[in-house]
Amino acid sequence: SNNIILRNLAVPRFFGAAANTTFLYHDLNYTEVISTQFSIFTPENEMKWEDIEPEPNSFDFGPADEIVRFAESVNAKVRGHNFMWGSQLPPWVNDTLTATELDRALQNHITKVMEHYRGKLYAIDVVNEMISDNTPNETFKDNIWTEKFGEEAVPKALTYARAVDSQPKLYINDYSIEGINSKSDTLYSVLQGFIADGVPIDAVGFQCHFYLGQVPDTLQQNLQRFADLGLDVAITELDINLQGPGNATSLEQQAKDYWTVVNACVQTKRCVSVTVWGVSDDHSWIPGGNPLPWNAEKQPKPAFYAIADAF
Ligand code: XIL
Repeated sequence: SNNIILRNLAVPRFFGAAANTTFLYHDLNYTEVISTQFSIFTPENEMKWEDIEPEPNSFDFGPADEIVRFAESVNAKVRGHNFMWGSQLPPWVNDTLTATELDRALQNHITKVMEHYRGKLYAIDVVNEMISDNTPNETFKDNIWTEKFGEEAVPKALTYARAVDSQPKLYINDYSIEGINSKSDTLYSVLQGFIADGVPIDAVGFQCHFYLGQVPDTLQQNLQRFADLGLDVAITELDINLQGPGNATSLEQQAKDYWTVVNACVQTKRCVSVTVWGVSDDHSWIPGGNPLPWNAEKQPKPAFYAIADAF
């Protein structure tokens, strides 16, 4: 394993991880893996609104800067995450703001963050988890953004982002859109409309938080149909939840699932990156899920070798 470097095998694609300042330089085995295996990083929380603008127009760039500096030090890219989401918002972004005030807050947030990171971001998840789970009855989720702006919410965020900096690839990122289903059909129509109307959009991020054995059969076909709209596609938050410690059989199935997802990306010309949501099981956002390619001892699991094989 010591001579298998996934970021090299992934070329021309990027292999990435969600990076977290809680562990970076604090858990040295974590730091060792994260320094060698990846060519792109997403800050796991550090660029979220509550972290980066906790009070109106008062920005705390410190932790996100740490990840950006780290990425530069290992010659890796950064995916920004994220601007418009219904979660991890600070208390001041709430429904006491008028639509006009919220609009100004959104534009100011996007502008200040993008100006701060000008030249440093390969991509940004401008829009995160905005498609409804109740399609086709409803297109967008009910949250502060759609409450105040209706269906203009998502185009607004994308338009503000493009106006600041035309360099970073602008993403819409979501879950449960990985296979061909009602939710991904809805996103597909939304994107057709955006493209027809000239709303700026470069790419779609497919989170891929899967349970063991539940990678959709239509993943590759689905990535391809979005690519055929002229967009980049990326696997942005991959993990395969074991819901327990696992055994030899489940670890093999987990490896197969990783292979299937990475292979779907490799078979799709416009698929630019595969990012796993964390590095080692002990630091995953899913407690006890053991969903990642490295175990708590930072040793490679069967999933690690499957990723190498698929790239
Ligand atoms: C998660 C982080 O991993 C956790 O540390 C945090 O407590 C909650 O958010 N979809 C997303 C990510 O787009 O931002 C989420 O990250 C996981 C689900």
